[in-house]
Amino acid sequence: MKLSVIGAGYVGLTTAACLAQVGHDVFCSESDFEKLTKLQNGVMPLFEPYLEDVIKTVREAGRLRFGSTEEAIAWGETIFICVGTPPLSNGDADLSAIEGVARAIAKRASGYRLVIEKSTVPVQTGGQLRKHLSVHSTNGLKYDVASNPEFLREGTSVEDFLHPDRIVVGVDSSRAEDLLREIYEPIISQSFTCPIHSHCARRKEPVFLVTDTSSAELIKHASNSFLAMKISFINMVANLCEVVGADVTKVAQGMGLDPRIGSSFLNPGIGFGGFCFPKDVQAFIRIAEKAGCDFSLLKEVEKINQQRVEHFVEQVREELWVLRGKKIAVWGLAFKPNTDDVRFAPALSIIRRLQAEGAQIQAYDPEAMEKAKKEIPDVTYWGDPYEAAKGTDAVLLLTEWEELRKVDWSRLATLVERPLIIDGRNALSREDVVSNGFHYIGIGGISATPQVAQALAT
Ligand SMILES: NC(=O)c1ccc[n+]([C@@H]2O[C@H](COP(=O)([O-])OP(=O)(O)OC[C@H]3O[C@@H](n4cnc5c(N)ncnc54)[C@H](O)[C@@H]3O)[C@@H](O)[C@H]2O)c1
Repeated sequence: MKLSVIGAGYVGLTTAACLAQVGHDVFCSESDFEKLTKLQNGVMPLFEPYLEDVIKTVREAGRLRFGSTEEAIAWGETIFICVGTPPLSNGDADLSAIEGVARAIAKRASGYRLVIEKSTVPVQTGGQLRKHLSVHSTNGLKYDVASNPEFLREGTSVEDFLHPDRIVVGVDSSRAEDLLREIYEPIISQSFTCPIHSHCARRKEPVFLVTDTSSAELIKHASNSFLAMKISFINMVANLCEVVGADVTKVAQGMGLDPRIGSSFLNPGIGFGGFCFPKDVQAFIRIAEKAGCDFSLLKEVEKINQQRVEHFVEQVREELWVLRGKKIAVWGLAFKPNTDDVRFAPALSIIRRLQAEGAQIQAYDPEAMEKAKKEIPDVTYWGDPYEAAKGTDAVLLLTEWEELRKVDWSRLATLVERPLIIDGRNALSREDVVSNGFHYIGIGGISATPQVAQALAT
């Protein structure tokens, strides 16, 4: 089928590439000229595992093109809107990019279009879209509006898109449902050629859940808010563990073994970040407020998350005493591993707080340094974790990249001024760290010193 995707960010680019991979003819538009030029020249504007290879393959096969939004509107009968919905200062989602696209479709399209919200939007946005398509239509446009929220995770977006647990479509006509079923058929039946695995471990047919538009919109916000709640919950448990002398990793393990709870999203740390959870929780609070429902539970989730940065800085302060003039290595800048995305990354907030107290930051991240430099230029960036740690009083692990879990601790011990690791993700092996002479401090009452390790060994 001929499909259009508007917005070539993490979601749009993955959507366009994967829909082309499963056999569709896709036109993807991007309004940022620099990004568009890169894409047209085969240069990736973002880092996402496997995505570059998929794009290369489908472009060579002639199934993916990049261009303007006007061209995208003319191309496909089905249009996926994948533009950003960032937070406004009051927490509402900024829907100006969505509105702009709706207006352009109304003015330029003729005949039938299925307009699909893939961006995360507040409930009832579908109704507004319908109204605006109708109000601004100049060419006798006939349309359906559907919601098809995206559940991919940055870092595993290609895998998540091709092997989802569920595909949710919110529709108000059988024509829209039929079109969406046809588009997703290769993924529903898992019958496409997988670009990642020759033998797919995740080749399980996803549930294709059909709802009304408002329910589909709500599923996305409710899912993200629920996951954020799990993270804030375990972070509060971590605070409690610190005070009573319990080990949060054991508590989380014990909780997670209950299948009603599950172990995912029970990792304590410096808080959630990225372009989804922080803004989606805020937007969901505002949606509930406007509907007259007091969702104060989510206000606590947000408050707990905001306190994580200060709580971590306090841990650093406790160890280093005076921060002014101290050299601190920050390992990891992206909001999570396997992405270069630093939007709402807690690492950046922590760096700003430490700098405000006079600390000098030496940073390293495998993929996110280019984007971080634009946000915080007054940091010394290094090309590897060892250089970043040279002469420092502490190494802070803020993003749990695999590469950073596997460093050569004995080499590192010869480079630092003081052998102190503060693990903001509880991701490192305490044993490896302390056996090489480091003092280890984690989140939630976890710490170990080389002396204790030695005493235990004898
Ligand atoms: N990033 C994620 O992990 C994720 C996961 C699920 C859902 N979402 C949701 O998907 C949406 C997009 O997120 P993202 O991370 O891809 O954002 P992004 O900022 O990476 O991408 C959005 C892109 O749309 C482009 N754009 C804006 N207006 C345009 C227009 N009129 N025509 C063409 N391009 C236009 C922007 O320049 C940008 O490149 C958001 O609503 C987000 O909440 C994101």
